[in-house]
Amino acid sequence: MAAWVEIGPGGQALARALVRGPACPEVILDGHAQLMALRATPRPSFPERVCELVLPAGTRRASIAGHGLPLPKADPKRIVVLGDSGCRLKKKVLQACNDLEAWPFAQVAARAADDAPDLVIHVGDYVYRERECPEGNEGCAESPFGDRLDTWVADFFAPARPLLAAAPWIMARGNHESCQRSGGGFLRLLDPRPVPPGCSDRTGPYALPLGSRSLVVLDSAGAVDERPTAADLAHARADVAAAPFPRDGTSWLVSHHPPFGVEMDLRRKGQLRAPGASLRGARDLLPAGVELILSGHIHLYELVKLERGPVQAIAGTGGTELDPEPALTADGVARALGVPVTFARARAAFGYLLLEREADGVWVADLRDERGSCALRCRLEPAGPRCGALRE
Ligand SMILES: [Fe+2]
Repeated sequence: MAAWVEIGPGGQALARALVRGPACPEVILDGHAQLMALRATPRPSFPERVCELVLPAGTRRASIAGHGLPLPKADPKRIVVLGDSGCRLKKKVLQACNDLEAWPFAQVAARAADDAPDLVIHVGDYVYRERECPEGNEGCAESPFGDRLDTWVADFFAPARPLLAAAPWIMARGNHESCQRSGGGFLRLLDPRPVPPGCSDRTGPYALPLGSRSLVVLDSAGAVDERPTAADLAHARADVAAAPFPRDGTSWLVSHHPPFGVEMDLRRKGQLRAPGASLRGARDLLPAGVELILSGHIHLYELVKLERGPVQAIAGTGGTELDPEPALTADGVARALGVPVTFARARAAFGYLLLEREADGVWVADLRDERGSCALRCRLEPAGPRCGALRE
């Protein structure tokens, strides 16, 4: 049985469990048993019940079948951010899912759990196994694929287990969870809102409190990377306009597609490419109080500071095959984005981002690899990131 806690709109903490039995289990809340409600009934491709219980604010202890559940902290100071964690089986790209070196998500999750975070944010793209492993390929032999529970367990729930036990999660949706791919599974298993009757690639943004600021989570499954049409731009603008950013005060945005990230353009040697074009077309709608945008999609660790705007952090390094590391300059990134930039840095290494708030209130972003060592450490000062030396 998989069990976890996730945070939904308004900061509501939800205990979820996947169970094979005929009924949902009880949660013991501060010594009192409470039955979980049925969220989704079994069906052939998802044969387990999805059960849920809203954890009342102020709950001090909660457990299912003797296993303690992690409870939310009012003011998280240590936050793990990761994304793009599944094992890629698509067309001719066959990652060796059975090899911890080639697909290290289980190690990344275990090391991140060792850091005892208060909160985990998954920035989307959980499921990468889209085709059958070819006969004779030992690297991925017997891997499940497609949007079914077996695939979700292999690509996400099994390797993520120690990190699911360590802290409550915020579950953002990636383009791998679009309706054409694993969207049905995402809406059933991980989205914090009730299961909708049909699948939509635009479920609308929601906000939750994060200490003194707001965290806005945007469903970007329908965002377009390149050459967006007028309709694509209108959708992105409508989604950003609907985001419940606070009128005053500061906020962070979680969006799988980064509006301000770059990668190497594999079709034009030496050039940079900036995906997330439809969301970038809505940048004028981001309020001045947005300090930080947390994204994945690009399979790199990246920090970009806009001259007049937030820091874009990307942590698409959870386990899927990495993108080639570009050498970034602020000018080069500014040209690719069409927006003035004062700082840009990228690194191709598996791992996660650990955000820690220091005593002076400044957040420090550590890139940690699957062994838990720090590859890059940057203080996110108001004027821009200040980074320590890279360790090879
Ligand atoms: Fe993606």
